[in-house]
Amino acid sequence: MTSTRPVSRGGSPSVPELIFGDLWQYDPAPETADPRIKLRYDLFIGGKFVAPKSGKYFSSINPANEQIITEIALANKNDVDAAYSAAAKAFTSWSKLPGRERGKYLYRIARLIQDRAREFAVAETMDGGKPIKESRDFDIPMAAAHFFYHAGWADKLEYAVPGANIIPLGVVGQVIPWNFPLLMLAWKIAPALAMGNTVVLKPAETTSLTALKLGEILQEAELPPGVVNFICGAGETGAALVAHPTAAKIAFTGSTDVGKIIMRQLAGTDKKLTLELGGKAANIVFDDSPVDQAVEGVVNGIFFNQGHVCCAGSRLLVQESIAELFVEKLKRRIDVLRVGNPLDKNTDVGAINSRDQLDKICELVDSGTAGGAEMYQSKCDLPTTGFYFKPTIFTGVTQSHRIAKEEIFGPVLSILTFRTLEEAVEKANNTAFGLSAGVWTDKGSRILKMSTLLKAGVVWANTFNKFDPSSPFGGYKESGFGREGGRQGLMDYGKIA
Ligand code: NAI
Ligand code: MG
Repeated sequence: MTSTRPVSRGGSPSVPELIFGDLWQYDPAPETADPRIKLRYDLFIGGKFVAPKSGKYFSSINPANEQIITEIALANKNDVDAAYSAAAKAFTSWSKLPGRERGKYLYRIARLIQDRAREFAVAETMDGGKPIKESRDFDIPMAAAHFFYHAGWADKLEYAVPGANIIPLGVVGQVIPWNFPLLMLAWKIAPALAMGNTVVLKPAETTSLTALKLGEILQEAELPPGVVNFICGAGETGAALVAHPTAAKIAFTGSTDVGKIIMRQLAGTDKKLTLELGGKAANIVFDDSPVDQAVEGVVNGIFFNQGHVCCAGSRLLVQESIAELFVEKLKRRIDVLRVGNPLDKNTDVGAINSRDQLDKICELVDSGTAGGAEMYQSKCDLPTTGFYFKPTIFTGVTQSHRIAKEEIFGPVLSILTFRTLEEAVEKANNTAFGLSAGVWTDKGSRILKMSTLLKAGVVWANTFNKFDPSSPFGGYKESGFGREGGRQGLMDYGKIA
């Protein structure tokens, strides 16, 4: 299904096509490790898997083929209550444990994730649709890295703010999205635990599997019961989690719409809140940039994880003098992206996470063509079952197009041009969001200037989508507030006594 040949469809033949003709094909290379998925998962509360008080279960499907892979317990208000009670009980002893001891648990969790990395990668790919090479080489190793990093902090909190006594907040309620399920869980849980908080976390309804599998790891690591609790379900369960009076803080990653609902919900309470919401990042290419490297960076910026990335470089701003050449190279590059079975090790672009998300992408793409922007799509063949979308780029995009303003959260790039640095900055900042940005140029001084002028939490220079647990991540404006990662991220889970 992933076999394809490197041809520049429609135009003149590419060099590989001239040399190899039709001979250059990819054989299937499926990842075959056993993801060890159970038929049914209960909620993880008080260190045990417990049947939901709701009595209900919902299906989790594989978006690559629409088959049901497991049943997940649905948490109602009573289940949310039970999870908070367990977390509150655990807080008494966990928060008093010496940091050195908490660090040992985090370290153990990290090691166990590494031990079962291949199994987790397959499970993550089957449940969410992302290419196995990404879950294998990015999601799972980075999740382990976050636990390792915060294991290091647990006994060094006195150095986080020298001279101050930092204490945990209490029980933290956390809600995460479906684009990086295990990784977002690690971003949330590791700093909370290092600081001495306990946690009630809800994974997204389409991707609960690896959280529940992590429950098994937490048992194996002998983490004290109730320190981490997983409840599953959709928005209603999330709303109950957010509203619960026991929560000292809510940490949310997801859509800006839901972020706003939560902000309203918490207004007037003394709960702390951090929000990591949407983005519409500008990836800015100057005419002195290394063009082929920039093309790769732009492709990685928008097609990584099918574009289901809050910091995706979804708006390309390319300097007018090289725009034509750049777009031509980009078209050739997306023609050879391999789209299809996420479990194939050669796949570049996997399945869209859900039918709802596919519908949303289609609707926004239709608005682009209806508005007069010019669409180019990879001519790849898509599998006939499952949710897929062809890598797509739009030229002739103006700032008033919805595809230039709204988060598409799919493999769709909107291209605008600019002449001067000032125009690039003006256009890049002309957005309701402010999560990330990219700059491609040969000039170091221009990179520094751009990084101060761009209103974005992260600015990458001559690269894109690079992450490290020690580097804080978060947004401005409607992209949210609070940071995750680094000392700043840690401090969002504590207070000065
Ligand atoms: P969403 O914001 O509804 O879902 C994220 C999480 O919030 C899920 O766990 C969901 O169950 C939970 N949730 C939903 N309603 C809630 C409520 N009232 N209170 C508490 N929790 C609630 O995002 P959705 O609908 O899955 O995706 C819609 C769009 O949001 C996407 O197309 C994308 O543009 C954006 N999005 C952005 C993300 C990011 O990382 N910036 C992640 C996911 C979605
Ligand atoms: Mg699923």
